[in-house]
Amino acid sequence: MAKGEGIGKQSWKPGNVLSPVPVVLVSCGGTKGWQPNMITIAWAGSVCSDPPMLSISVRPERYSYEIIQDTLEFVVNVPSLIQAKATDWCGMVSGRTVDKFAVTGLTPAAALKVGCPIVLECPLNIECRVQQSLNLGSHTMFVAEVIAVQVSSKLLDAKGLLRLEKGGLLAFAHGQYFALGRCLGRFGYSIQKRPSPVRRSAPPKRG
Ligand SMILES: Cc1cc2nc3c(=O)[nH]c(=O)nc-3n(C[C@H](O)[C@H](O)[C@H](O)COP(=O)(O)O)c2cc1C
Repeated sequence: MAKGEGIGKQSWKPGNVLSPVPVVLVSCGGTKGWQPNMITIAWAGSVCSDPPMLSISVRPERYSYEIIQDTLEFVVNVPSLIQAKATDWCGMVSGRTVDKFAVTGLTPAAALKVGCPIVLECPLNIECRVQQSLNLGSHTMFVAEVIAVQVSSKLLDAKGLLRLEKGGLLAFAHGQYFALGRCLGRFGYSIQKRPSPVRRSAPPKRG
């Protein structure tokens, strides 16, 4: 009997099966002579709390790779369910041959601190400046500092608290999109006497 079989496990060849992951629309361009563009990215993650930093991994053959490599700026736009189809579509076609903003009808709007546009319809826009790029193999990881954040005011409740779940968030797992469902509790609910599902606008320090 192969190792693992006895406990109901199969051995798979090593691959990137980490799930679920976010799926985001990364906007870039709009500066240094580049047209504004959007690329769908699933290989994205938070990597540091202070300073706030995140990473996106992009294949060098992508048009957006050329843009980001040159401008060292991008915006991570977190889509809601309403932008799910457009998010998939932006991952199927290249900005080399098509103006993705024009075709999707999504609106490029001014960012606060970077030259590239935000995607206005996305509820959360995270403006980033590249600090490092790491050539890892198939993908280059851009490690970037978050230098500004814009949040849709529609997601703030009467007390000004951020209710991100109202946006209808998406997740990506093993090649499929999912709508995020029921909230199980807030960070630390396992040790609280009365767990509350409500998320505050300033998230507790986790990482
Ligand atoms: C759900 C999804 C996730 C994707 N994730 C990535 C990714 O993390 N990195 C990447 O380089 N390409 C990723 N892609 C592929 C690019 O989005 C796609 O090749 C896109 O057309 C590139 O656009 P561009 O040439 O305008 O930059 C993904 C596509 C989809 C649909």
